[in-house]
Amino acid sequence: MTKQKEIVLSGIRSTGNLHLGNYYGALRKFVAIQDDYDCNFFIADLHALTTNPDPEQLHANVKNILAEYLASGLDPEKSTIFIQSDIPEIAEMYLLLNMHVGIGELMRTTSFKDKARKCLGLKAPADGDSDEAFEKEIIGADTNKRVNAGLLTYPTLMAVDILIQKATKVPVGKDQLQHLELTRRFARRFNSFYGVDFFPEPTDFDFGGAPVKVPGLDGSGKMGKSEGNCIYLVDEPKVLRKKVMRAVTDEGPKEPNSPMREPVANLFTLLELTSTPEVVKHFRDAYADCSIRYGDLKKQLAEDIIAVTEPIRQRIGDIMADEDFLRRVVAQGAERARARAADTLAEMRQIMGIRKF
Ligand code: TRP
Repeated sequence: MTKQKEIVLSGIRSTGNLHLGNYYGALRKFVAIQDDYDCNFFIADLHALTTNPDPEQLHANVKNILAEYLASGLDPEKSTIFIQSDIPEIAEMYLLLNMHVGIGELMRTTSFKDKARKCLGLKAPADGDSDEAFEKEIIGADTNKRVNAGLLTYPTLMAVDILIQKATKVPVGKDQLQHLELTRRFARRFNSFYGVDFFPEPTDFDFGGAPVKVPGLDGSGKMGKSEGNCIYLVDEPKVLRKKVMRAVTDEGPKEPNSPMREPVANLFTLLELTSTPEVVKHFRDAYADCSIRYGDLKKQLAEDIIAVTEPIRQRIGDIMADEDFLRRVVAQGAERARARAADTLAEMRQIMGIRKF
């Protein structure tokens, strides 16, 4: 008998276009595992609601990301690709699971604290300071600055996404590991409270090797939507060339074999991702013997990035124009995802004592 494939699930919030960091850090790896796992990839539009987006914008973003997923190689015949809000069972299970989640543990979650502080206009406390003031602020916040309850229960919703599909392998970025830890805790708690062996405990998907870090163009840190340092898959070549030519560098090496500063090292990291080993070696040698001209490096880098993104950008355009195809993909994805979700929910209701007469 063939072994059942392990269930992999990952989601992305629909809050903007996909960038090169998403592509190398996640999408390309997802594409590579589609044959070997029972893969489920979804667009977390309910999670996006936590920041109260404009409705038109939210819908447009869902469509963009869907097209970008597909254009990057996610295959609806191999993977279940769906939109979170198409699965009403998620909303119901979110209510049920919340009954087993403590507001204290949610309030202590790092991502919640960061986002709540932003809402309240507070800075992070210095080391050793207590969070008491912060908690008082949350409770006393006026209605304009309120921290919405959806933000607090973000980890419950994420746990539901995972547990409702009984996924065991969840590829996430470092910033999401705490949410995954909470998911395991909620699963354990539910199982032990009802004396069942119902929810499996999911772990991070280990792709092996060092994690791919994709730096931004602003000299420091990684590429991120909120950093404004992104190369988007939908960037046209001329936009992309401009962005790369404007990337931060330094005044150049003055002595042979000088150590490299972060802005320049970042350009080399991008070159390594998108170019050939020969090209990388050429520029490394030029850096080492001080003959490098950053303008040349950037020109090369821009063209190599374009060679990666341009076919994807064109496919995005084609897919966006094919509404029928998009509708078919999400309908098929929703059908598959709902089948499993409905089973899990029905059993969960039964376990919790919500039963039919
Ligand atoms: N919270 C994740 C993020 O912001 C997105 C997400 C929602 C997710 N539900 C998930 C990721 C379930 C993995 C599994 O990146």
